[in-house]
Amino acid sequence: MNCLLRWPEPVVRVQSLSESGISAIPARYIKPPSDRPSRNNTAATPTTKNFEATPINIPIINLQNLFSDDQSLCEETLGLISQACREWGFFQVVNHGVSHELMRRVREVWREFFHLPIEAKQEYANSPSTYEGYGSRLGVEKGAILDWSDYFFLHYMPQSLRNENKWPALPPSCRKLIGEYGEEVVKLCGRLMKVLSINLGLGEEYLQNAFGGDNIGACLRVNFYPKCPQPDLTLGLSPHSDPGGLTLLLPDENVSGLQVRKSNEWVTVDPAPNAFIVVSNAIYKSVDHRVIVNAAKDRVSLALFYNPKSDLLIEPAKELVTEDRPALYPPMTFDEYRLYIRTKGPCGKAQVESLKSPR
Ligand code: OGA
Ligand code: NI
Repeated sequence: MNCLLRWPEPVVRVQSLSESGISAIPARYIKPPSDRPSRNNTAATPTTKNFEATPINIPIINLQNLFSDDQSLCEETLGLISQACREWGFFQVVNHGVSHELMRRVREVWREFFHLPIEAKQEYANSPSTYEGYGSRLGVEKGAILDWSDYFFLHYMPQSLRNENKWPALPPSCRKLIGEYGEEVVKLCGRLMKVLSINLGLGEEYLQNAFGGDNIGACLRVNFYPKCPQPDLTLGLSPHSDPGGLTLLLPDENVSGLQVRKSNEWVTVDPAPNAFIVVSNAIYKSVDHRVIVNAAKDRVSLALFYNPKSDLLIEPAKELVTEDRPALYPPMTFDEYRLYIRTKGPCGKAQVESLKSPR
């Protein structure tokens, strides 16, 4: 595990590069041509006049009826979520119960954090042993091509890993807002876990219990994608699938950038006002996604990862495994799986494929 004690090369803050006024990005950030962003966000549909391209977007689901007394409204919502998980593995939720004001404030406080002088942020510089703190790369492979982003990573749950001293002390309201935001979003994750459990034909509490009950993990990664002078040559975040159970992403309200892979095309998500983007990872599909950057505006996003208790052995629900549908992967703990990603960095579906059981 020695390789995870320190970064293999001196850390360069992408934000400093961006602010230095360079007009060409360093070679370390230039992706091979096949990995560069394409901006086609559309599908040609023969139904539109002149075969015009129509924008496509991930489903937007209103959660208002979820716990409604009206059984049929509730079931309709469950059905929409089930379909979104199967077809996309990604959807947006509105009327989710989290205060819009809180969402706005937490995003703004993080934007302010990233605009503090570099010395204030360096205090929280992270190492690959836990990734907690202010970071600029994922993976410890020497000579790797890097992504155009900085981030801040912190543990919110379990309580035993939560250490507010590792959260930014500035801006002054930052810690308090992280606490409030974490509480609300974890609550929403709990509700969504019930929905996914029911949709899989398992008991309402099944997934939450399988994830360790009250001992689930929750981490926050705040991503900062600085302006990029050559956005067509690089990516803000390389293709990856999130390792945990569920991710709730609060995107920048003004700048898009997140792309989801759908039948080998990259679809840019158009964020709906006050919505969260839900990534239903471990269940149904853990979909590849990536982030593109642009020359005009920086972008802030907050990803809250809802993870299983870190030392529980993760394997498919017994109820879902049959002779025709055997388990695809050997059981492993979340700690083991995460270590693998933390060593290699984001590498698309190869991340999971290489772990498949021999058949
Ligand atoms: C992530 C992620 C997307 C974004 O942090 O895992 O996929 O829009 N972020 O920043
Ligand atoms: Ni992700």
